[in-house]
Amino acid sequence: MSQSIETVLTEDRSFPPSDEFRGAARLADRSTYEQMWRRSIDDPEGFFGEVARELPWLEPFTSVLDWSGAPVARWFDGGKLNVSHVCLDQHVEAGRGDEVALIWEGEPGDERTFTYAELLAEVCRFANVLKARGVSKGDRVAIYMPMIPEAAMAMLACARIGAIHSVVFGGFSAQSLTDRIEDGGCTAVITADGGWRRGSILALKDAVDEAVQDQAQVHTVLCVRRTEQAVAWSEGRDVWLHEALDGVSDECAPEPMDAEDVLFLLYTSGSTGKPKGIVHTTGGYIVGAYLSTRYVFDLRPGDTYWCTADVGWITGHSYIVYGPLANGARMVMYEGAPNAPHEGRFWELCEKHRVSIFYTAPTAIRAFMKWGDAHVEKYDLSSLRLLGTVGEPINPAAWIWYREKVGGSRCPIVDTWWQTETGSIMLTPLPGMSATKPGSAMTPFFGVDAAILDEEGNEVGHGEGGLLAIRRPWPSMLRGIWGDEERYHDTYWSRWDGRYYMAGDGARRDADGNFWIMGRVDDVLNVSGHRLSTMEVESALVSHEGVVEAAVVARPDDLTGEAIVAFVIPTDEVADDGGLALGVLLKAHVAAEIGKLARPAEIRVSPRLPKTRSGKIMRRLLRAIAAGEEIRQDTTTLEDPTILDELRTGVKA
Ligand code: WT7
Repeated sequence: MSQSIETVLTEDRSFPPSDEFRGAARLADRSTYEQMWRRSIDDPEGFFGEVARELPWLEPFTSVLDWSGAPVARWFDGGKLNVSHVCLDQHVEAGRGDEVALIWEGEPGDERTFTYAELLAEVCRFANVLKARGVSKGDRVAIYMPMIPEAAMAMLACARIGAIHSVVFGGFSAQSLTDRIEDGGCTAVITADGGWRRGSILALKDAVDEAVQDQAQVHTVLCVRRTEQAVAWSEGRDVWLHEALDGVSDECAPEPMDAEDVLFLLYTSGSTGKPKGIVHTTGGYIVGAYLSTRYVFDLRPGDTYWCTADVGWITGHSYIVYGPLANGARMVMYEGAPNAPHEGRFWELCEKHRVSIFYTAPTAIRAFMKWGDAHVEKYDLSSLRLLGTVGEPINPAAWIWYREKVGGSRCPIVDTWWQTETGSIMLTPLPGMSATKPGSAMTPFFGVDAAILDEEGNEVGHGEGGLLAIRRPWPSMLRGIWGDEERYHDTYWSRWDGRYYMAGDGARRDADGNFWIMGRVDDVLNVSGHRLSTMEVESALVSHEGVVEAAVVARPDDLTGEAIVAFVIPTDEVADDGGLALGVLLKAHVAAEIGKLARPAEIRVSPRLPKTRSGKIMRRLLRAIAAGEEIRQDTTTLEDPTILDELRTGVKA
């Protein structure tokens, strides 16, 4: 039976960019966008061939797209290039070597700045150290680092010599690191003694020691000195970077890579299943990262750009390292937590470095809202001209707060939808053109042919929800799952017989054709035969002043098929009644906002929610709790496992 997802959320507000913003923007009118987008779909060879030729190739490509091996695309065959050369050398060679590439702030307040020429020299030295340790083209190197400049340098150094990097987020456990090292067959690990996180040391080297215990193929652990506590040392295997750099040349010719050579692996677990090593290659990836950074962030000379993600996520790859550097941007990078040493830290840094473009996640925005407006209001944020969000659907209340409190009601917000798998931004407003709507990712980016389908692969009408699908290859798409071709086909291409890439998200288009993401399809609720998006019920809950954050799941119900269970974090301390009174109010509130159909059967008030380390709510755990089941699932990606007991024993309204 084909069934679409019903939409119950209506959001009519719309915010066009100011004349001032539009006047200076790279792309300011819809007809130009439509022409460019149309050409990118009808003539991808022409469109992306031209874009790719804006980058410096070591040897020109002979074909643009080859889709004969679908669903594995080949872009820019015959061409050779090196991503570190694209990101660094080209700017130095063009005489921009003295321009600032990276302004870095450590959590304790230390600061380092690198020009393009300096960054190039550091990357070459780093690359020479890797070579001296026997790392060569095609080898896999795990990077497990704090957010320090050496994290970006390590990635670029691997790229320079053609080694494949696999960055593992520094908050992951030793076990998660082992799994990824093993799956990727990594032979070297780059790490640091530790990183600063809310005033304490994240002991990275200790975790690496544990992780590589039974990984005999790991011959080198290259360690950056950052936190300076004592660490165990395995002679022969372990090497301090600062010692290895002594006397090393700052010249290292970039390895000419085939456009389809693998650039990196990045593991994604999302909220379900065994991590998948997503494979990205060289030419298409850098073209996608370059083009999207340029247009979505409207990057121009004089901008200072800050993306607050960690390099452990795809956002850090594409929008801290590769996209901004390929564009010659000046950017800020920060080591620590947003509330260390105080809740205004991000805004303090925006003021200090006159940040003009700021990109963060909805989960962070909701935390700022909770901490209170005073932390934002204290700082001069007049340098900001553009804001962005990524990672999950943003509820309208948070969007409006971001716009007003951070953006001074002056900055457009780009709500960018994409995935580890897509490599770069897929659905997004273009800030000089779009009248943005709170909660909408708006329009497809160049080369993106998106559709919303029912289970059978028929397009649903505007206003109806369905499954988000992409119709044809785009340059930065994944080329597969490391070591598991079959899983690549099954996960992304089997639903509609290879005709579409299945993103796994629910979405709808409004009457104007704009896209609204409704969350992962695994999370869809089915109440009395109505399929509802968790995100919309959550938005209704969060629109109540007593709620900071909400997560909604279904539990089996004899009467309605599924019943809605909502877990909510209150704005104030949980009251003496355990949140009972709030729960009663919220049920009525949701019924009033959306309708009785969506009224939660049960509300649990709790100070926290279970999240992955990237801030995504783990609804599969909440589903088990709501159904009263034992948790037998993998909880290794959970940020704080003690939450589960708390939620299980909490008061229910
Ligand atoms: C999933 C991908 C893309 C970088 C960070 C996450 C969700 C992402 C949005 C958005 C609604 C979003 C989707 C997607 N998502 N951006 N703007 N609006 N949902 O990468 O870990 O691969 O997660 O994040 O569910 O499928 P990821």
